[in-house]
Formats: sequence, structure tokens, C-alpha cells
Amino acid sequence: MRDLVRKANTKRAVEVGTSTGYSGIWIALGLKETGGRLVTLEIDKGRHDVAVANFKAVGVDGLIDARLGDALAEIPKVAGPLDFAFIDAAKDQYLKYYELILPKMRKGGAIVAHNVKSHPEPMRDFLTRIRTDPKVRTEIVTPGQQGFSVSWVK
Ligand SMILES: C[S@@+](CC[C@H](N)C(=O)[O-])C[C@H]1O[C@@H](n2cnc3c(N)ncnc32)[C@H](O)[C@@H]1O
Repeated sequence: MRDLVRKANTKRAVEVGTSTGYSGIWIALGLKETGGRLVTLEIDKGRHDVAVANFKAVGVDGLIDARLGDALAEIPKVAGPLDFAFIDAAKDQYLKYYELILPKMRKGGAIVAHNVKSHPEPMRDFLTRIRTDPKVRTEIVTPGQQGFSVSWVK
């Protein structure tokens, strides 16, 4: 994640599904090197609060705008252009997140999605789209068993 943030020379990143902040911290470590910032979205207040505390404890809170709310309502409010997006929330909503994020992406940016190997069924429409959408070039990487898609925007 950190390497991809660097590769995309990320100034603006969005994360869909903060949970308690683990991936957000890794994204932020990449952003320290690129001089970028992250907006991360979480619908669950308990997890959002823990993430905010974790970002502070690790010292990356200055790089992260953690927003509480439904990503489907919040993504349209995130300012673009975006260089990096990480999708890791409700698996059956991945296509909706993707459609909201794609128009905000700059060319050369990356849209990364988690669990593409472990949860292919609920996100089948999303997987078909990223494999066939002429606007992106998608590769699947499996550093663990869960699988990530990385869609580079053309
Ligand atoms: C797998 S966890 C995210 C893990 C996190 N990205 C990490 O790697 O540390 C998925 C999170 O998405 C959140 N979520 C689910 N639907 C959402 C929505 N519509 N908007 C925002 N967050 C949502 C869940 O509450 C949950 O905390």
C-alpha cells in the first residue's frame, strides 16, 4: 500500500472503509514521502473514534481527514483530483464506490480494492467492470490470500 501510494506520486488519497485505521496508517506513511493527504471514510462511529485515536498515537493525524458517514454520500464531497483510492468497505457496494471515485481520478492514479480473491461473489459486477473498463488497466496482486486489484487510470 505504501509503495503504491508512492508509485502514484499521491497528493490526494481517499479510503473507503477506515475501520480502526490500520490501512490508513500505511497509506499515510507513503503520503509522508509524497507530501499528500488522505480522506478516509467510515460509517461506524466506534471504529471511526478508535481510528482517530490510532492516527494520533502514530503521529499521522496531521495527514488524515477521518470522516464519519456513509461512503456513498461522502465520496461525492471529497475534493479531486485524486491520485490514489483504496476501496475496502461493503463488498456488494464496490461498483458504486468505483463509479463515484473514477471521475475524480487523475490519469496515472491507482484505484486499489481489497478482498478480490477472498470475496469475489458479492463484488462480481465490480470485477467485471475493472477488467473491461477501457479507462483503466487492472492487475490482481496477492501479497496475502485476500487479493487486491490495482486499476491504473489511463
Ligand atoms: C474491512 S473493514 C476496513 C479495514 C481497513 N481498510 C483496514 O485495512 O484497516 C470495512 C469497514 O468498512 C466500513 N463500511 C461498510 N460500509 C460502509 C459505508 N457504506 N461507508 C463507510 N464505511 C463503510 C465498515 O464499518 C468497516 O469498518
